[in-house]
Amino acid sequence: MAAETIIRTPEQQWTSLDPPPPGWDAPMPGDKQWWMTILFVWSGLLLVVTFSWFFVGKQNVPTLKREVTPASIQQEVEAFVAKYETEPGSGIVEVPPGEDAYLVGEMWNFSSVLKLKAGHEYTIWYSSVDVVHNPIIAEQRYTFTAIPGYAYGIRITPTTPGEYLVYCSEYCGLGHQDMATKIIVEP
Ligand code: CUA
Repeated sequence: MAAETIIRTPEQQWTSLDPPPPGWDAPMPGDKQWWMTILFVWSGLLLVVTFSWFFVGKQNVPTLKREVTPASIQQEVEAFVAKYETEPGSGIVEVPPGEDAYLVGEMWNFSSVLKLKAGHEYTIWYSSVDVVHNPIIAEQRYTFTAIPGYAYGIRITPTTPGEYLVYCSEYCGLGHQDMATKIIVEP
């Protein structure tokens, strides 16, 4: 017996309870099969690249994380600034190569201007003592989310001397638009 052909008007929608229309299991036309193959291969490739990049890419930040309190990170920052400030009160901190640096946000500024030497690796700890801030080194397409209660460490080796603007890109209150600092990379 031939399969029952059901003709419906546009108002009569198919439901999942209806038998499938005749011919539903016919093989896909050749060109469609090709496109489907390309699609699957491409999406598989993207999946592999996305996940493997997590392990091989050099852009992975942060690599370190620890729990802190606003008071404890504040203390660390103050000790760091006091130790390496070029002149008392200047807010410019010359970080010796290999030393840990800090970029801690507080409404509405960052802990200091960092002076680094090109070609040396530094660990920069970033955190916040109040609300969420988002320091961003725009020229390097680096963006970090500074969350109170945690300090995240990024290991970077600056290679190109220059001045890099760091600003907050997470709305954090009335002074948000003025929240910025610099990283100065010296040759
Ligand atoms: Cu800090 Cu916006």
